[in-house]
Amino acid sequence: MDQTSGPRPADGRRVVIVTGAAGGIGTAITARLLADGFTVAAVDVNAEGLERLERRHGDASLTTFSFDLTTEAERCVGYIASMLGDLYGLVNNAAVIHIGDALATSDDDWSHVLASNLTAPFQLSRAILPHLLARGAGVIVNLASIGGVIGLRERAAYCAAKAGVLGLTRAMAADHGGSGVRINAVNPGTTETPMVKTVIDSSGDPAATREIWSSRQPVGRMGQPEEIAAAVAFLVGDHSGYMSGSTVTVDGGFSVV
Ligand SMILES: NC(=O)c1ccc[n+]([C@@H]2O[C@H](COP(=O)([O-])OP(=O)(O)OC[C@H]3O[C@@H](n4cnc5c(N)ncnc54)[C@H](O)[C@@H]3O)[C@@H](O)[C@H]2O)c1
Repeated sequence: MDQTSGPRPADGRRVVIVTGAAGGIGTAITARLLADGFTVAAVDVNAEGLERLERRHGDASLTTFSFDLTTEAERCVGYIASMLGDLYGLVNNAAVIHIGDALATSDDDWSHVLASNLTAPFQLSRAILPHLLARGAGVIVNLASIGGVIGLRERAAYCAAKAGVLGLTRAMAADHGGSGVRINAVNPGTTETPMVKTVIDSSGDPAATREIWSSRQPVGRMGQPEEIAAAVAFLVGDHSGYMSGSTVTVDGGFSVV
């Protein structure tokens, strides 16, 4: 089936907003959705990263938007709709990491992680929903984490936020699945991106940490951003038309051992 064969406006475009598009997985998702024929509205707080993305693709189907989603989520969706018209989808990919158990998590740390990783995806989803419901078709894909299902050490706020994202995914799928809007999630495992590199580099022994983080997956390595993007593209595309409220785990087996 053609990935762009579903309901679409007269000009044939299906516009998908990708947040955190300048990051490791977001860059791969953007590239993959462009290749699949979607029009991508790439959002990030990192304006330089967005410029890099533009230089890399130079594609009329890519438009970039610099927003801080902790304060401007609803304005972001309204602005993109005013610029690009009819919206088809949202990939909630932007997030931050915080290293710390509960004792090492201040109220400010907690608030920032929850604002970035749970409240912003909620506000973006709420803002795009009327567009999708009016169209009678659309998708939301939330990047959660295996940390939303299993306990990861020293990730108290991060795991709590990601568990919230999975709950939001299921609740919204229950509410809106009958309206042509599908809402699903992807749980990546350890994936080689700037987020992971930051954590490895800030550990006492980066080489040893890299080795441990690679070998803890039964497949014996970390994942690549393109491998996560493939699952996201599947959930955005029409091959997953009967999936709603689901979570696709892409973690090299990490969460089953
Ligand atoms: N890399 C992993 O191992 C891993 C594992 C599990 C889940 N994930 C999830 O996958 C997604 C992508 O992770 P990644 O590793 O590519 O991270 P990354 O740090 O490479 O990219 C995240 C991007 O989000 C952007 N961002 C953060 N806060 C923002 C805000 N307030 N407004 C706008 N943009 C903002 C950053 O600028 C960055 O470009 C995240 O949701 C992450 O939690 C990643």
